[in-house]
Amino acid sequence: MDNSSIITSPITAELEAFKALFASSLSSSNELLGRVIAHIRRKQGKMMRPMLVLLAAKLHGTVTDATLHAAVALELLHTASLVHDDVVDESSERRGQPSVNAAFNNKVAVLSGDYLLATSLVQVSLTRKHDIIGVVSLLGQDLAEGELLQLSNVRNMDYSEQVYFDVIRKKTAALFSACTKAGALSVDASAEEVERARLLGEYIGICFQIRDDIFDYYDNPAIGKPTGNDMLEGKLTLPALYVLRTVADPEARRLAVRVKQGEATSEEIASLIAFTKRHGGIEYAVRTMHDYRERAFRLLAPLPESPVRRALEAYLDYVVERTK
Ligand code: IPE
Ligand code: IPE
Ligand code: MG
Ligand code: MG
Repeated sequence: MDNSSIITSPITAELEAFKALFASSLSSSNELLGRVIAHIRRKQGKMMRPMLVLLAAKLHGTVTDATLHAAVALELLHTASLVHDDVVDESSERRGQPSVNAAFNNKVAVLSGDYLLATSLVQVSLTRKHDIIGVVSLLGQDLAEGELLQLSNVRNMDYSEQVYFDVIRKKTAALFSACTKAGALSVDASAEEVERARLLGEYIGICFQIRDDIFDYYDNPAIGKPTGNDMLEGKLTLPALYVLRTVADPEARRLAVRVKQGEATSEEIASLIAFTKRHGGIEYAVRTMHDYRERAFRLLAPLPESPVRRALEAYLDYVVERTK
């Protein structure tokens, strides 16, 4: 079996149920909103988050309606955050098609992102589980805080990894840990199981964002969203932070300041990217990602062998090795 079948085979029927519920959760009589929803539905994402909710639930029980509503709520919140993120990042492409802000405009994207967020809350209320409603509500706060922290970090000249990890924990890992936690809660797993699930999701999310940040150092049209954007937006990610910390080079420092000031030209960005690659920045980020993968594997190790455990391991390998 290839990696993706190992991941999906224990949840084939549940994924179909998820897709049907996701589709039925989104419908509006408003003509403009209807067109935005149709645009979003045209390209499906990788469904990483709902798969994780289903696997975390199946690790400790049987997928219920509450599991499915939680999975839909979390995929909707993810989608809302992408629609808003593309406005904030002034990004014109998402999932291989124009972003909502590009296909319509910023106003439409902000308002339909709000609609998706509200629909996520409708779905989470249908779980009828207080603790899951709490997880999703707190997640909404974390995602917004993560994006704001990243925004306020753009201008400060702090190259510490601490700030980088604070940002990615909130803007990305929080979503993955909410998925594993909500999945476990939906089948009434024990407090200890829920906490392990939460931590597993956090490690997965950290790996996911480091890999995503590495993509930005390479041209790859297959990813379906622009690369080379982070530095244009004034963001320095793990590979560049590492070389800035470990290599004393006045020219690299100068380029980093230009990036942070939002003034770097595309030549300057290309030069800082090349410098980062020459001095092992990518290898360092890959090593760091593998550290988190190891931590996640250690959480799974005490569990009995099962197709679901195997699927979670394959999921982790996919996150670390994925090419899009
Ligand atoms: C994109 O997430 C946002 C990040 C956390 C980098 P995905 O790459 O999972 O997005 P889709 O849902 O598959 O488009
Ligand atoms: C990820 O942010 C999206 C959110 C977590 C809201 P990025 O801006 O880093 O991700 P991409 O590259 O646009 O998907
Ligand atoms: Mg962003
Ligand atoms: Mg973005």
